[in-house]
Amino acid sequence: MGAINAVVSLAADGDIAILSVNSPPVNALSQQVRAGLLEGARQADADKTVKAVVLICDGKTFIAGADITEFGKPPAAPSLVEVQDAIEGASKPFIAAIHGTALGGGLEVALCCHYRVAVPSAKCGLPEVNLGLLPGAGGTQRLPRIVGVEQALDMVTSGKHVDAKSAHAAGLVDELVPEGALQASAIAFARKLIADGRPLKRVRDLDDKVAAARGKREVFDAFRKANAKKFRGFLAPEYNIRAIEAAVDKPFDDGLATERKLFIELMTGTQSAAQRYVFFAERQVWKVPDVPDDTPTIPVHRVGIIGAGTMGGGIAMNFANIGVPITMVETKQDALDRGLGVVRKNYERSTKSGKLTMADVDKRMQLFTGSLDLGQLADCDLVIEAVFENMDIKKDVFGKLDRIVKPGAILATNTSALDINEIATAVKRPEAVIGMHFFSPANVMRLLEVVRAKATSKPVIATSMQLAKKLGKIAALVGVCPGFVGNRILYARSAQANAMLMEGAMPWDIDKAIYDFGLPMGPFAMSDLAGLDIGWIPEKTSSSTIREVLCEQDRRGQKTGAGFYDYDEQRNAKPSPVTEKIIREFAAKSGAPQRTISEHEILERCLFAQINEGAKILEEKIAIRPSDIDIVWINGYGWPVYRGGPMFYADTVGLANVVAKLEDYGPKLGKNFAISPLLRQLAADGKRFQDMK
Ligand SMILES: NC(=O)c1ccc[n+]([C@@H]2O[C@H](COP(=O)([O-])OP(=O)(O)OC[C@H]3O[C@@H](n4cnc5c(N)ncnc54)[C@H](O)[C@@H]3O)[C@@H](O)[C@H]2O)c1
Repeated sequence: MGAINAVVSLAADGDIAILSVNSPPVNALSQQVRAGLLEGARQADADKTVKAVVLICDGKTFIAGADITEFGKPPAAPSLVEVQDAIEGASKPFIAAIHGTALGGGLEVALCCHYRVAVPSAKCGLPEVNLGLLPGAGGTQRLPRIVGVEQALDMVTSGKHVDAKSAHAAGLVDELVPEGALQASAIAFARKLIADGRPLKRVRDLDDKVAAARGKREVFDAFRKANAKKFRGFLAPEYNIRAIEAAVDKPFDDGLATERKLFIELMTGTQSAAQRYVFFAERQVWKVPDVPDDTPTIPVHRVGIIGAGTMGGGIAMNFANIGVPITMVETKQDALDRGLGVVRKNYERSTKSGKLTMADVDKRMQLFTGSLDLGQLADCDLVIEAVFENMDIKKDVFGKLDRIVKPGAILATNTSALDINEIATAVKRPEAVIGMHFFSPANVMRLLEVVRAKATSKPVIATSMQLAKKLGKIAALVGVCPGFVGNRILYARSAQANAMLMEGAMPWDIDKAIYDFGLPMGPFAMSDLAGLDIGWIPEKTSSSTIREVLCEQDRRGQKTGAGFYDYDEQRNAKPSPVTEKIIREFAAKSGAPQRTISEHEILERCLFAQINEGAKILEEKIAIRPSDIDIVWINGYGWPVYRGGPMFYADTVGLANVVAKLEDYGPKLGKNFAISPLLRQLAADGKRFQDMK
């Protein structure tokens, strides 16, 4: 009894042994924790004075998972399986005492204990699917034996956390014990087990719940079908399902072998590598090398929003959601009323799904003050401008703000593409000016590009990043250039997509290739959704682009029932003969030879042009690191996370291959297309974007 090693100890309470893990921050299953548990379990099992063992953790949580830093490294003994076998195979009962979160490998250890008790605030889950994996330590075999196939399928493919109460109802937790009295309650539970002479309950030996699903293929088929859209393109959910099928169809040890095989395939595959990369990228993106964590920030008690249009209203909702009062300024009363009306309607829609009550809606709406007077913004700590995308208007607004808003406040613009350095010339305090580029719909989309202008101060940057976190967003700090990171890369893709229309491809051919690659929609479907008339001025139209002609024919996108596509009442898209005719006429005028363009070429030209633009963005130091670009494209444009973002994807293709292909396409890419010197250099050095320091 006593310390087993630096992170595991064994103590006695009469005839009950307490095996404790103390490995902050989350008691992850590092090599030391595994070694300590193995040794402790063996000692306790061998000790004749011990009748039962309580496995418990110090700190804020039960074992919260594998040690992800060990991923990709050679395995270090002992393996988790050895630990599990020692526990499950012991001659006396082991009781897992759970608080915090028992996740992944943590829950898989708890599943090898003979009983589980938990405090009500505890949560259990197998989140491996989120890293492109499956629970590889018996989780897929043991969980369905306790909770049944349907719940197990749901848990392993969603990765979601189940609260202790539901876990108790499902049989995963044997007893709920009072908060704050976990150890004493677990010991009491152990004593009762012994007094009652209850047998060792080994999950591996349970059969009734999996037997119930045996021979019922339809359970799995129905599950696959119901989730087809959510799982599209992902390997891991399907592999998780197959592992559960094995649990149903095979004896325990054969099922384990299947799980192992499937796990190794996922672990060594590209998708999981991408998903693990994204996991780390999401953490890195917050770090700004020259803006350290201790940079002072500006308290934001009230925010002003100028423009109650599409973006202004959505942006405001983010602040109302976290209880920050908002002053919204418009030019006309009806625009203000309309804007606030849309906000209310959006909130009311959330009451239908049960996310909010009407009282919540009222509470949020009370945070709004509307005004037609910019003067009302004087006491705001942050003002976000979301007026029309027009430099003169924006400069006029900023000039006025400069005279109105109190010193020390942040003056932000939501411009999509305008030069923020130029906007900042309208004020005498350019250090206060920053871009906060929200994506539409701003109350839903997770991405925020925080745009640093030449003079932006560090506290203004630190505050903007911190606010983004508070709003539940993911923010990337980027520099000023047309379109910043996200839209600039989008333009590079659009240029290729439009060029291919002239060479013989149709919008639906291009959209299909992009959709099949894994994005939610292609460039033309996206244009139809956003509206083709953004920036189109009816008085100035001259039928000089396909887009102009479509707008002139009132084909302005989904909202008019037609754009590049024709739409039915339910907004289902159909290829349009009208659009096809317009494109063919333009193509004929351009004189470009017409040909069939393969899906392969469509993809390469679109994606490699994006990669090339990403490299230029890095060259110009518009993004801090390649993975920030990936975060932008995953969260702002729906790039499939299992492909890791455009820069990670480029690494998987090989940068030399990307360069060679771009050279092959040559003039087709456009007369202004130039291969990025950085991309060439990395390719020549045999390096990846991930190797950039
Ligand atoms: N719509 C998008 O998808 C999107 C995405 C990201 C960024 N943006 C950017 O956000 C900004 C706003 O775009 P939007 O789509 O919300 O436009 P919008 O036309 O829906 O709304 C703009 C609103 O600003 C108001 N307005 C104009 N001048 C004003 C002034 N001087 N004072 C107060 N209010 C004024 C208008 O009355 C209008 O209600 C633009 O800079 C745009 O580029 C738009």
